[in-house]
Amino acid sequence: MLVPKTALETPPLEIHKLGADVLRQPARRIGKVTEQIRDIARDMLRSMYTAKGIGLAAPQVGIHQQLLVIDLDLENPTSPPLVFINPEITATGAGIDTYEEGCLSIPGVYLDVVRPTAIEVSFRDEMGRPRKMKADGLMSRCIQHEMDHLNGVLFVDRVTDEAGLRKELKENGFQRQHVQSVS
Ligand code: NI
Repeated sequence: MLVPKTALETPPLEIHKLGADVLRQPARRIGKVTEQIRDIARDMLRSMYTAKGIGLAAPQVGIHQQLLVIDLDLENPTSPPLVFINPEITATGAGIDTYEEGCLSIPGVYLDVVRPTAIEVSFRDEMGRPRKMKADGLMSRCIQHEMDHLNGVLFVDRVTDEAGLRKELKENGFQRQHVQSVS
């Protein structure tokens, strides 16, 4: 699925921000992968490229379906993005990594999160074809971050540096009470 990787004046979908209830609602599994699902994925990509992000999950645009898009190569107009439908992590490596994450729903906030380094994920692509992927590095990180969104979890929920969290939230106009720490 190729969509121009350019910023639009008016992106098709609004990306909701920390504090919005829609970010906390779990997403439902998708049955048949239809043209309507592909339309949503296309609109999500257009909105993601406009916001200059590398990943976006459907709940961030108020759609509670298990759908997410990722593109780690924003500079290359011909490399296709990945569309993940009903993703499931089927294996997790033993190693863990700390990496500074951000999120289009929490603009300006960047904080360290600890996650498994390597994963295996199974999903359907935008044509409904079953796929399996082994990922590490940024791709693994991004898939795990976006899959959290499908469960109503945000990366700030996983931040353990409480002082850093409060400082970053405050500086960017967000409230600590909207974080639901998981650790
Ligand atoms: Ni995010």
